[in-house]
Amino acid sequence: RAPLPWQAAVITLSDRGARGEREDKSGPAIAGRLRDAGYEVVETLLLADEAEPLRRQLVRLCDQRRLDLILTTGGTGFAPRDVTPEATLAAAQRSAPGISEAIRAASLKITPRAMLSRGVSVIRGKTIIINLPGSPRACQESMDVFLDTIPHAMELLR
Ligand code: MTE
Repeated sequence: RAPLPWQAAVITLSDRGARGEREDKSGPAIAGRLRDAGYEVVETLLLADEAEPLRRQLVRLCDQRRLDLILTTGGTGFAPRDVTPEATLAAAQRSAPGISEAIRAASLKITPRAMLSRGVSVIRGKTIIINLPGSPRACQESMDVFLDTIPHAMELLR
């Protein structure tokens, strides 16, 4: 019997996206790439840049849906409304800094602005949560870094 596919969710954080003023290109690109890699993407959400609604959604997806992986995109920079890392830490039970260290190390070879992403990686229950920057290109560059390695991490949490 084939193993069950990994289950994932993608959350886009964007004030303008949530207001319908801007098309979300990053969320669908991430979801598409996850599906290509064999994941079942069970939810995609588009939220405003607000910490508490994001924290609540993360807790629900981890505790009730018990997903393997949640990728967020956007809200990791220095603008006052960039609160994704704080909301993610508020939902976290354990830190997994190596994933974000690897993303930033690889991204710094592409652009010095990679140092301006404050994204974090954490564990809640059996779910890994990884913050990606907002731009579609940054999302692709970040996924290049961890996509091959993350199944081993999910196996360890299963
Ligand atoms: N990382 C990669 N790989 N490629 C990029 O183009 N852009 C940076 C950085 N990380 C970038 C990147 C920029 S310009 C910013 S401001 C931060 O991510 C935060 O982006 P966010 O606020 O959209 O989350």
